[in-house]
Amino acid sequence: MSQPDTRAWWRDAAIYQVYVRSFADGNGDGVGDLAGVRARLPYLKDLGIDAIWFNPWYVSPQADGGYDVTDYREIDPLFGSLAEAEQLIAEAHALGIRVIVDVVPNHCSDQTPWFQAALAAGPGSPERERFWFRPGKGEHGELPPTNWTSNFGGGTWTRVTEPDGTPGEWYLHLFDGAQPDFNWDHPDVRQEFEDVLRFWFDRGADGIRIDSAALLTKDATLPEVGTVDKHPFEDRDDVHEVYRAWRRIAEEYGGRALIGEVWMPDVQRFTNYLRPDEMHTAFNLNYLCAPWDADKLREVIDETLSSHAPVQAPATWVLSNHDVTRHISRYGREDTSFSFKGRDFGTPFDLELGTRRARAAILLSLALPGSSYLYQGEELGLWEVEDIPDALKQDPMWHRTGGVDPGRDGCRVPLPWSGDEAPFGFSPDDAATEPWLPQPAAWKAYTAQAQTGDPASMLELYRKALHTRHAEPALGDGPMSWLDSAPQVLAFSRPGNPDVICVANLSTESAKLPAHSAVLVASGDLDGDNLPPDTTVWLRP
Ligand code: GLC
Repeated sequence: MSQPDTRAWWRDAAIYQVYVRSFADGNGDGVGDLAGVRARLPYLKDLGIDAIWFNPWYVSPQADGGYDVTDYREIDPLFGSLAEAEQLIAEAHALGIRVIVDVVPNHCSDQTPWFQAALAAGPGSPERERFWFRPGKGEHGELPPTNWTSNFGGGTWTRVTEPDGTPGEWYLHLFDGAQPDFNWDHPDVRQEFEDVLRFWFDRGADGIRIDSAALLTKDATLPEVGTVDKHPFEDRDDVHEVYRAWRRIAEEYGGRALIGEVWMPDVQRFTNYLRPDEMHTAFNLNYLCAPWDADKLREVIDETLSSHAPVQAPATWVLSNHDVTRHISRYGREDTSFSFKGRDFGTPFDLELGTRRARAAILLSLALPGSSYLYQGEELGLWEVEDIPDALKQDPMWHRTGGVDPGRDGCRVPLPWSGDEAPFGFSPDDAATEPWLPQPAAWKAYTAQAQTGDPASMLELYRKALHTRHAEPALGDGPMSWLDSAPQVLAFSRPGNPDVICVANLSTESAKLPAHSAVLVASGDLDGDNLPPDTTVWLRP
């Protein structure tokens, strides 16, 4: 087991997530692309981030926003080319920005040569063994092999028509039918992904975000969920072997990070993925799901830090991503927590309250020990767009649940950059095509251009906070200790010579600030020595 490198970049980076389709459109086809990202790299540099995580940019039919990959080694022509991705990585590096690519190992697109070959080769063929093909149950095989539920709603099996035209076997897909699951017991699959890692490390990727990381291995006896001790496809013990092998590859290159998407309420099971010979970090989705409540947040923070300490992995802090309701909208509702089951687009939200809390939340997150993930558009104060016409919705989550789940399109609306009307600089002025999802007219006041130079704007708060975080040696990785505080107030100190104190007031009353010599950053106006409700401040003691 190698010694963890306690000074590695991923231990305290501020990582900005670029959902390429919606970031910036360089060629005017209404879809974001690599040219758009390249043109905006100076914006990201100026924002003060350390790394970019790109959602999948590979060749894909886009049945699930690119999480249905046909070729893991080529860029979708919708976004650009491999040469351009290499250029983009080089340009980011020249600005001191690291690059994380998203690898999707649980499943691929049904259009991959492997899956097409499996369909053509028929039952019992070696080609089918790379996936999970099984005969159906029932007299004529008309019933799926199990009654598992897909993460996108509906079942997890689709029946195929065999090459001879008869209804045949079923294949497993934990997500959409266009995303067949790989069989991780197969050596070809393991080999393929080890090659894919090397491919992107060779091209300069500093990190790999691992999609659906806890789902890869399955119980080959295919029991129903709940009938056996171990879950048949979630967080199985043998999945760790995969990441041990990947860690060895990352170590060969040095300085590269493996970052897991692990949805796992049980923190002990979660940090198993972060043992020193596995991944480097993983998204703290428990923090993201927590409500805007000081006691609950403190519980998550304590649990996070105490569970990460034994494996010596840094904590991560994240408020939003491309799968969840934007936190401004969540924080402006009565129920401020997040869960896929409780997505509430029915009730109006209070934008002013949500914004105030989001400002306080980012200062809280950026002051905690470890690294932070920012989702594009949160720095502009964007909210979830909840009135996208059904006909324009693209998310399979919406389609597969028959509209019961509102889907994830609302957090993926193209960013507003400048100007007074759509496409707000997302596409070039003379673009012939509209953005792939419509932007709210009210985003006129939320463009990067409109906010630049306005000290009260969300964008300037993010800039100031990120630059201050860099300048303060106490922030980022390192210890913290709680300070005494009133109910619903979180106060902690970050020792670092000079120290920084962070106080977040989640109560409805003003809170007295501790003694301090200076205010470094505040999410809202202070009231003398008092911190108003839903406000966070960084102080010099
Ligand atoms: C992850 C991704 C999500 C995707 C799913 C299937 O949860 O974040 O966007 O739909 O995996 O790949």
